[in-house]
Amino acid sequence: MSVRPILRWPDPRLAQVCAPLGDAPAEALVAYLFDTMYAAPGRGLAAPQIGVLARVFVMDCGWKEGTKTPRACIDPEIVWTSDEVAVTGEGCLSIPGVTAEVTRPAAITLRYRTLTGETVEERLTGFEAICAQHEFDHLNGIVTFDRLTPKARAEAEAAYAP
Ligand code: NI
Repeated sequence: MSVRPILRWPDPRLAQVCAPLGDAPAEALVAYLFDTMYAAPGRGLAAPQIGVLARVFVMDCGWKEGTKTPRACIDPEIVWTSDEVAVTGEGCLSIPGVTAEVTRPAAITLRYRTLTGETVEERLTGFEAICAQHEFDHLNGIVTFDRLTPKARAEAEAAYAP
């Protein structure tokens, strides 16, 4: 197990736009991310949350319910979003104890590179679509607080005790 400390908001590294991983090796980073995410325990984790400012995230939305669906997404892009939106209470391992009601497209198409170098495109719906957008936001220095109205943000920040 290679569990790394998870940065907590407002650590400034969580507000940085991450750089593409490109041809750099991904195996060790992805292993750290999965081990840290499962230990947390969480359903998604982005590289900046362990202090690595690279465009990589992992997610597994089903493991807590007994269906492991691990994805390691390298240099991901959201190439389509639905007009239909969904409002979801989102937690974040970097903002423990806070659930923020975030409005996002209900479905997306995510394009990313896998650990084996294959480029795949997947249509994601339901919680997987929300999770992928949440993790993708981290790669652009965006956290759930940034998706709220000023009033909702003030309330959520007030509820946050790091
Ligand atoms: Ni998060």
